[in-house]
Amino acid sequence: MWNHRHLLGIEDLSANDIDVVLDRAEHWHALSRKTEKKTGLLKGRTVMNLFFEVSTRTRTSFEIAGKRLGADVVNVSPSTSSVAKGETLLDTAKNLEAMRTDLFIVRHASSGAPAFLAKRLQGAAIVNAGDGAHEHPTQALLDAFTIRRHKGKLEGLVVAICGDILHSRVARSNALLLGKKGAEVRLCAPRTMMPLHADRLGDTVTVFPRLEAAVEGADVVMMLRIQTERLAGAMMSTTREYARTFGLDAGMLARARPDAIVMHPGPINRGVELAHSLADDSDRSVILDQVESGVAVRMAVLDLLLSTTGAPSAEA
Ligand code: CP
Repeated sequence: MWNHRHLLGIEDLSANDIDVVLDRAEHWHALSRKTEKKTGLLKGRTVMNLFFEVSTRTRTSFEIAGKRLGADVVNVSPSTSSVAKGETLLDTAKNLEAMRTDLFIVRHASSGAPAFLAKRLQGAAIVNAGDGAHEHPTQALLDAFTIRRHKGKLEGLVVAICGDILHSRVARSNALLLGKKGAEVRLCAPRTMMPLHADRLGDTVTVFPRLEAAVEGADVVMMLRIQTERLAGAMMSTTREYARTFGLDAGMLARARPDAIVMHPGPINRGVELAHSLADDSDRSVILDQVESGVAVRMAVLDLLLSTTGAPSAEA
């Protein structure tokens, strides 16, 4: 049962809602592996990508997801729209909604921007594609989907999430989701990149100041992008120093379970938070599986928010 008009954050979802998305994504994952990948489930619906920040994976996978479901997908770029002339976020969205847009996918540097639009637009659904340091719910859902496919479950797993936790909407959404699904979450960062009260993100969240301890016995090691522009402010002298103390290489991964998988939401700083060899290690890295999962999970989200049938179409 799915009762949400918008997808603004994992915070709003129950454990059952998460299962509904992941189960529906299995269906779309299977379709995406066929030669004919398209269904007409959302034929006639209009979906708009409204990205005020750069993106490779999220924007493209939402576009592919919408097209595979048969929707008309429009990409709006602020740099070539009247936002560049000073038009406000709300005016821009209201004008685009007046064209009878059914759903907006919104990425914005300000936390709360998608929720702001959800309260003020007339009827369009809103999906948060990443807002400031707040949430990136479809990333957490695709990460959970990827883990579930590799490990068969989420409950009881030990997941280490390491990197710039302070600025990471991915870490926040993942900690919330994994906590709701009964996984043990270990958040690991230098003290200067760890938010105060990070352990309050869930009952199963623990803070680790050292990577060695966070990775010990983990089933999943998720590395996050270090925003190199913030390193100086974070009192980490060099990227080489960061790589030495908080970077994941084969030696560090040997502390995890022998079948532990390595994840990264992308984009990767190769040789900083993640060694080249591990990023490309097809036995341990599931990074490109995450990207594939992103299309299926985003198809599930669009389907659940827009489909009037409540179930994947028979023709799909
Ligand atoms: N993981 C992620 O959000 O990547 P993009 O910034 O490329 O969308």
